Amino acid sequence: MSASVNIRRTTTRDIRSRKQGEVIVALTAYTTPIAKLLDPHCDLLLVGDSLGMVMYGMETTLGVTLDMMIAHGAAVMRGARRACVIVDMPFGSYQESPEQAFRNAARIMAETGASGIKIEGGTEMAETVAFLSQRGIPVLGHVGLMPQSVNVAGGFRAAGISEIEAARVLADARAIADASAFAIVIEGTVEPVVREITEAVDVPTIGIGASPTCNGQILVTDDLLGLFSDFTPRFVKRYAELGDDISKAAASYAADVKARRFPEAKHCFHRKAVTS
Ligand code: KIV
Repeated sequence: MSASVNIRRTTTRDIRSRKQGEVIVALTAYTTPIAKLLDPHCDLLLVGDSLGMVMYGMETTLGVTLDMMIAHGAAVMRGARRACVIVDMPFGSYQESPEQAFRNAARIMAETGASGIKIEGGTEMAETVAFLSQRGIPVLGHVGLMPQSVNVAGGFRAAGISEIEAARVLADARAIADASAFAIVIEGTVEPVVREITEAVDVPTIGIGASPTCNGQILVTDDLLGLFSDFTPRFVKRYAELGDDISKAAASYAADVKARRFPEAKHCFHRKAVTS
């Protein structure tokens, strides 16, 4: 029996139970090798549609397709053995109707093997969240700053600043929790509102640009590693500067190749000596 047989994957039910208990550690992952590295340290890995910006150089997440999410979701599942893997539904794949959402979410579940999906939206998506949950698809909600609504919001701006907006974000979170989301991501929302939401809903809140009072925390992995530097939101803490390391490595390689220091004899294949 191999050691891997004994590893138990964290379920959406486990995540749900963290409303009381240990803080939820979450990060984004888009590829197999990164998922392998993050898996021992994370309760939840999100295959976020942020991959459109981080990996594909898009300006927003709106151009991400279902096929892209499925390909990256399957890649992450090949690397993660213990974390609960959740795949984002991309823009246009779920907003039309609960039936459209189910059809596309079912494809994600079947073709990636992930444990659930995430959708952005509040009261307007509550019916869809309930529809999916009742049909076997665990849903991670996402309220506050919602990148897929960037054109309506007029940019990537913090949510909940005015009283009216604060009340809307709170109502959104309540609606999604009541519709049976197993947890809710709160992004880019002012601190007192986030605390109020976390106290008001009975499912865990997972913050990004939110509050230490959340039941969990998530960041875009490339931001914390210093790999994505087009734009660094103020809520990001850098834990490494891999972008600089990659530049330095590429410069050293280029210098070695130009100076003919690489490849050396030990990097080449040689005919074995013929023995008689
Ligand atoms: O797409 C993503 O990476 C996300 C996180 C920022 C929560 O939605």
